[in-house]
Amino acid sequence: MADIVNTGQAEAWNGYEGAHWAAHHDRYDAVNSGFNGPLLAAAAIGEADRVLDVGCGNGQLTRLAARQARLGSAQGLDLSAPMLDRAHALAAEEGVANVTFEQGDAQVHPFTDGSFDVAVSRFGVMFFADPVAAFGNIGRALRPGGRVALLCMAHLEGTDLGGVLAALSARAGVAEPATGRDGTGPTSLADPARVREILSAAGFADVSSDLVEGDQIWGRDAADAARFLADWGPVRHNLGDGPEVRAIAEEELRPFASPDGVRLRGAARLVTAVRP
Ligand SMILES: C[S@@+](CC[C@H](N)C(=O)[O-])C[C@H]1O[C@@H](n2cnc3c(N)ncnc32)[C@H](O)[C@@H]1O
Repeated sequence: MADIVNTGQAEAWNGYEGAHWAAHHDRYDAVNSGFNGPLLAAAAIGEADRVLDVGCGNGQLTRLAARQARLGSAQGLDLSAPMLDRAHALAAEEGVANVTFEQGDAQVHPFTDGSFDVAVSRFGVMFFADPVAAFGNIGRALRPGGRVALLCMAHLEGTDLGGVLAALSARAGVAEPATGRDGTGPTSLADPARVREILSAAGFADVSSDLVEGDQIWGRDAADAARFLADWGPVRHNLGDGPEVRAIAEEELRPFASPDGVRLRGAARLVTAVRP
């Protein structure tokens, strides 16, 4: 594995966070797969394309991309050993042969120049210490005319999840929002002007950032969803893991329970750009 410069992220994704995501891959996919449609439509993967999935985690998007690029290939890159183990196992289970996974830091990974037609990501590009350097590195990995389609977390205000998390923080008596301060961490690329600035500085053209909406299934019922939400890394980190957090989460999630599960309407930023 090449050097890691995002060492705090590497520790988190090889520690509690990565272990939780790997163990609960199906639950995280239920939360995030509502955005796969718009992401894959924007990526417009051709049957012979070579696709890079940045921050691929357990690899659901990598496998979907590989299926679209049936004469090409998909490579997932991620910091997290436990999630990459899961990604390997799931690809083998599903018999997806044209997929590879590699451990590395996308900010500095020594990609072969021009070796991909398209780079995609589902919530894997918001954590770079130096985003201009990271997107510059990803851009060099693309052929001229290659493109990116990246899902990033949107600002939480106005979303169902934002409401639940704000109530949770307030009722738990914690001033810090449940996912940390807005504009940093997961929401670091929520602001379209900032994304344009970063991707342009990294050498991309035709940068756009559109709001997309999707349903997020957090659990079977309010109690199940509350257990999962309270164990989610950012909530646990900012609010602690006391039983009262779960109890409050269950109350806040109850209005979203339906026979199909606890369904929250979520929003994300879909960022697209082209390498000139
Ligand atoms: C929110 S998870 C999303 C995982 C996956 N894309 C999904 O949709 O299920 C973020 C992922 O980005 C990865 N990641 C964060 N920083 C990274 C970096 N600098 N290089 C490679 N992967 C990174 C993490 O290890 C983690 O798997």
